[in-house]
Amino acid sequence: MAGLFVSFEGTEGSGKTSVIKEVVAHFQKQGKQVVVTREPGGSRISEKIRTIILDKSHTEMDARCEALLFAASRRQHLVETINPALQLGKLVLCDRFVDSSLVYQGIARGLGFDEVLEINKYAIEDTFPNLTIFVNVRPEVGLARVFASNLREVNRLDLEQLNFHQRIYDGYLELIQLFPHRIKNVVGERSIKEVVQDVILLIEQAWATHE
Ligand code: TMP
Repeated sequence: MAGLFVSFEGTEGSGKTSVIKEVVAHFQKQGKQVVVTREPGGSRISEKIRTIILDKSHTEMDARCEALLFAASRRQHLVETINPALQLGKLVLCDRFVDSSLVYQGIARGLGFDEVLEINKYAIEDTFPNLTIFVNVRPEVGLARVFASNLREVNRLDLEQLNFHQRIYDGYLELIQLFPHRIKNVVGERSIKEVVQDVILLIEQAWATHE
């Protein structure tokens, strides 16, 4: 049986990365083979592209250039990391995937949803995740978490204005309407334990119905 491909989405500071860590530990304890990966990144070449995209000094980066770099990084990541793991029947947990581009580049940067979907279809062909978890934390709450913690470095995209982050949040809500069967809305403004419990349940349900 093919593996299960689960992506995690959210605005900055949604806590999805911490949620993923707990979810991995849970499934590994059960003896499942789990691959944890992230975008942009997840392969040698894709991680190099990540450093170009997120470099704080690259203030002149053109929006279409950025969208193409995300798609290029995604292509290499899919071919080298995600597809082989799925073929081996593994559970793949990916921190961000194509929906990030649809929302950040397509909607928030105004490049157009359809245009960004088009370049991404070229990159991923038909490999959409089986399940996408949207960790729903309002942007002002998420950004306050990012700036209050030293857990990770503030990157170029964090420094964008709050209204940009609000557009991203609204974009995710639109995407949920478009793909209600694939994208699940998980309330993120709760204890990590509660969020993780919900996510585990959703993944178990997805496994159970997965062909
Ligand atoms: P991260 O903070 O979750 O590691 O993500 C890195 C940044 O890249 C984050 O601000 C979201 C952004 N991003 C996009 O704009 N488009 C994409 O396709 C992806 C994967 C990430």
